Amino acid sequence: MQITRPRGTNDFLPEITAKWQEVEALLRCLCREYGYGEIRTPLFEDTELFSRGVGETTDIVQKEMYTFADHGGRSMTLRPENTASACRAYIENKLYGGVQPVKLYYLGPMFRYEKPQAGRFRQFHQFGLELFGSAAPAADAEVISFAWDLYHRLHIKGLQLKINSVGCPACRPAYKTALQDYFRPYLGELCATCRDRFERNPLRIFDCKSEICRRIGAEAPLLLDSLCPECGEHFTAVQELLTTAAIPFELNPRLVRGLDYYTKTAFEIEVAGIGAQSALCGGGRYDGLIEEIGGTPTPAVGFALGMERIFAALAAQNDDIETTGCLDVYIISGMDKRLKQAAFALACRLRGSGISVEMELGDKSFKAQMKAADRLQAAWTVIFGANEFAAGQAAVRNMASGEQIELPIEDIRGYLMQH
Ligand code: HAM
Repeated sequence: MQITRPRGTNDFLPEITAKWQEVEALLRCLCREYGYGEIRTPLFEDTELFSRGVGETTDIVQKEMYTFADHGGRSMTLRPENTASACRAYIENKLYGGVQPVKLYYLGPMFRYEKPQAGRFRQFHQFGLELFGSAAPAADAEVISFAWDLYHRLHIKGLQLKINSVGCPACRPAYKTALQDYFRPYLGELCATCRDRFERNPLRIFDCKSEICRRIGAEAPLLLDSLCPECGEHFTAVQELLTTAAIPFELNPRLVRGLDYYTKTAFEIEVAGIGAQSALCGGGRYDGLIEEIGGTPTPAVGFALGMERIFAALAAQNDDIETTGCLDVYIISGMDKRLKQAAFALACRLRGSGISVEMELGDKSFKAQMKAADRLQAAWTVIFGANEFAAGQAAVRNMASGEQIELPIEDIRGYLMQH
């Protein structure tokens, strides 16, 4: 029986990965402009990092983690996100001892056992930023501006930036009580998940997709109305910075993210036309997380975006990523063993000079090789024919203009390098 890839995963073939590499190059270029360095953390971590970091009450920890016992009996989990790992690495590698803030980025696969649908996968890819060691509103604004900047450079239209403040340990407990007081009379009407959320984390009721929970939640008190002075001032300052940078935003007082670690600013950028999974990215401040996983209190802010959703948005807008890097040279040769050896030697020499080269490895006809050169859109062909070879020469053809000249074989590399 044929073995197929696991549900919710993808094979990315070269035509697609070429487009990913273009976006990745743009991301890395932006990171250089904004001063973020790359961190690569393990794909699996101690399960406790995520249960403590992401939060016991989240869907991710309760239902979506790929958890397994290793051969030593330790519970390990494939990373469902990278923020907790980045915090662990910040503590473990004593990055707090260097110049602050520490600005890191990552790019790679994440794993969540979710119900697969358009834009939602079990193995998906995130790019993210984490900025450690600054409590300033400008840090929040910098992270948001990075995300905004990226989608603009990709020409994605119809972006909606939604922001909220989810408060801090000073203002949240009183709000939680007020929220429970509000929802208590409706407990019988809420869905089973929200009844559970009512006890553990009533803010997450705002995240429910059920019509009835949404309707009940629409009249609930809002945390924005009861932020402590510090959170209020911080949020105002973030908004002022976004306005100064001409980044349009909407306040969404019911925006609660699916991870428990957020404090103060939370944000998402959405785009219409890519189905129910319209969030291109999300993030916010998480000033309590480093302490939660064993470090000294350190303010931090970051965001992550779904790579797959960038391509979904581009496809929905009939846009595509232009890929460069087509083939420089296709070498065509006759069947004769000496011709093939000379062609092979030239291919090695050209590649050594940074020129991309393809050639027929087997015994296909001259005509088939010509066709292959066309199909691969080679900029040049080098043709080893018996007569020219006898004179120590080969033909070099410019495929765009059709012009062809004969050159001594040892001069071909220099000629191509000049053109
Ligand atoms: P998140 O909202 O869970 O946040 O994920 C961020 C982005 O990853 C989403 O907006 C979406 O584009 C993409 N994404 C999430 N799950 C899937 C999936 N199953 N399939 C495809 N794409 C998906 C975080 O992960 C936080 N760590 C973000 C953060 C960084 N907050 C602070 N720093």
